[in-house]
Amino acid sequence: MTPEDQSKEMQVSGTQHELVISEERLAERLARLAEIGLRDDGALQRLPYSPEDRAAQDLLTTWLEAAGLTVWVDPAGNVFGRLEGTDPEAPAVLTGSHLDTQPGGGRFDGVAGVLASLEALEAMREAGLRPRAAIELVSWAGEEGGGCFDVGVIGSRAMVGALTEQHLDLRCRHRGRTLRELMRECGLDVDRLGEAERPEGSLAAVVELHIEQGPLLEEAGIQVGVVTAIAGNRRVPLTLRGRQAHSGGMPMAYRHDALTGVAELVLAAEAIATAKTDPPVVATSGFLQHAPREIAMIPGRADLTLDVRCIAQDALEAAVAEIQQAARDIAERRGLELELRDPWGTNPSPTDPAIVAVLRAACDALGISATAMPSGASHDSMVLATRFPAGMLFVPSAGGISHAPEEFTETADLAAGARVLARALTVLSA
Ligand code: HGY
Ligand code: MN
Ligand code: MN
Repeated sequence: MTPEDQSKEMQVSGTQHELVISEERLAERLARLAEIGLRDDGALQRLPYSPEDRAAQDLLTTWLEAAGLTVWVDPAGNVFGRLEGTDPEAPAVLTGSHLDTQPGGGRFDGVAGVLASLEALEAMREAGLRPRAAIELVSWAGEEGGGCFDVGVIGSRAMVGALTEQHLDLRCRHRGRTLRELMRECGLDVDRLGEAERPEGSLAAVVELHIEQGPLLEEAGIQVGVVTAIAGNRRVPLTLRGRQAHSGGMPMAYRHDALTGVAELVLAAEAIATAKTDPPVVATSGFLQHAPREIAMIPGRADLTLDVRCIAQDALEAAVAEIQQAARDIAERRGLELELRDPWGTNPSPTDPAIVAVLRAACDALGISATAMPSGASHDSMVLATRFPAGMLFVPSAGGISHAPEEFTETADLAAGARVLARALTVLSA
């Protein structure tokens, strides 16, 4: 049976058959993108709205155009490729992920989802499949903004009207310029940001494939994780002030050492998070610096921003409150002055049960092993879920490592995920 016949069979009988995903093309594109922003230490650095980020988006644009998609960039810098449907009035199905990276990130975070989405659309086109509803691929801008501005998921915030003037005024700690300035340097018209917003009902579904960024799938030998909830995060900033003094002359009993105080707090935060298992809470000292940094001086100041995450809002808030109380107790006991500043972050979000069911059914139909699981990391789909039905699927990360140069996913695993995504997209756009 020729591909044309197969597609007719698929469209006429509504049955689905496996769309052909090219592992070779996936591997080649992964390798091409891994060259853009590659640092000497083997890590990737494509900071949001940087020349490297734009270069990756430009390379993707050539692939989207070659795939025969309608391509455009919105005022937030999100890149889109659209496969037209037979019903122009039907709300589109959105898929994709991001190409920007953390400062010194890995080759698969975000990239896996963008390339799997592109493979799915290429497979549909090669199978002659015309969906009823259009399918749009998006490469989000600024997902990793947290590594620069302390605020991420920038492009997806713009799509739901949640990117504020305050966000635009945030200054990148690596480049010294504001988000607004960096967007303008990319040729974006920040004054038209409102045009990036999509109203309720304008998208039928949002589906994102992502690497797991944790060890569970690999450990269980399962090919796909169907995400049931996406963790929210709270960044908890504080400063401890003690007394700078001579590291030799000052007896231990007289010291007010800001660094040992913050060290005790980091361990307290770890203990508080470790003790919370249902739902699990995670915490680390995402950002820590002390002063002065001199061998013969007792540090008089320590600045810390904790990263605390959980899939349940109340448990997340409770963990933050407990950590802040631990900071007060430590400061009191050590004679330190504590400055607690307001936490910020994104709220956790459940995924859409109907999309979860479509993803599970696609795995079953394709004979791909799957399990339901939460996402410990935050993603653009969490932002989209505030306005549209959203779902996610994960493919295994070697050793669970991510946000590190060792990040790795087998091409075969990514291709299996892309097959599931392709099938789910054909169902959601039918
Ligand atoms: O931090 C996050 O969860 C995302 O990868 N930026
Ligand atoms: Mn990331
Ligand atoms: Mn990501």
